[in-house]
Amino acid sequence: MKHWEEFLAPYKQAVDELKVKLKGMRGQFELEHHHSPIEFVTGRVKPIASILDKAHQKGISLDKLGSELQDIAGLRMMCQFVDDIKRVVELLRQRNDFEIIEERDYISHKKKSGYRSYHVVIKYPVQTINGEKSILAEIQIRTLAMNFWATIEHSLNYKYKGQFPEDIETRLQRAAEAAFWLDEEMSLIRSEIKEAQRAFLRKAEGKEKN
Ligand code: GTP
Ligand code: MG
Repeated sequence: MKHWEEFLAPYKQAVDELKVKLKGMRGQFELEHHHSPIEFVTGRVKPIASILDKAHQKGISLDKLGSELQDIAGLRMMCQFVDDIKRVVELLRQRNDFEIIEERDYISHKKKSGYRSYHVVIKYPVQTINGEKSILAEIQIRTLAMNFWATIEHSLNYKYKGQFPEDIETRLQRAAEAAFWLDEEMSLIRSEIKEAQRAFLRKAEGKEKN
């Protein structure tokens, strides 16, 4: 058990640090009174049992965990609108405290299950008393609707071990469509609000000139 504690220590450190950093981005938007593309941030270190399960499933030997399991350290950034996701990814690309080594776009290309999210895998340097140790971490960026669906699907997956009864499978597909539709509707409402604000500003500026 001591071995696991040592192995997971830099991952825990990374998750703690990244939570502060990514939440900090939201704080900066608030300070500038802008709409924050980040609604909230969560993070976790994968439980040992799940690490072992996944390593077994994927045929990863235990000495290769650090290089082949990308989500031992996992962060999630939730956004209100689909457009916010692009902005968040752009902000992550501009940072110089980690290196992006992979991006997976399950929004343009949703998974067969109905899953949608944008995944960014980073190499994050942790400072330890024995020098720098770089670890991999996975950041999932998604809307609140995508998160709702993924959370429910994940719990059901756990219950049914991936073998959904047919009626549940159908319902999950329909729920995924509903989540997609909700995101679309919200985006439309958002552009209407923005347009109304622009019209209001134009009118106000016009009045100033007269
Ligand atoms: P994993 O073996 O799950 O890591 O797949 P992968 O290595 O191909 O990576 P991928 O980017 O597809 O998935 C990584 C993570 O995304 C998972 O650990 C989940 O958190 C999430 N995810 C992927 N597919 C699904 C899905 O169908 N449903 C839910 N709820 N989450 C998913
Ligand atoms: Mg993965």
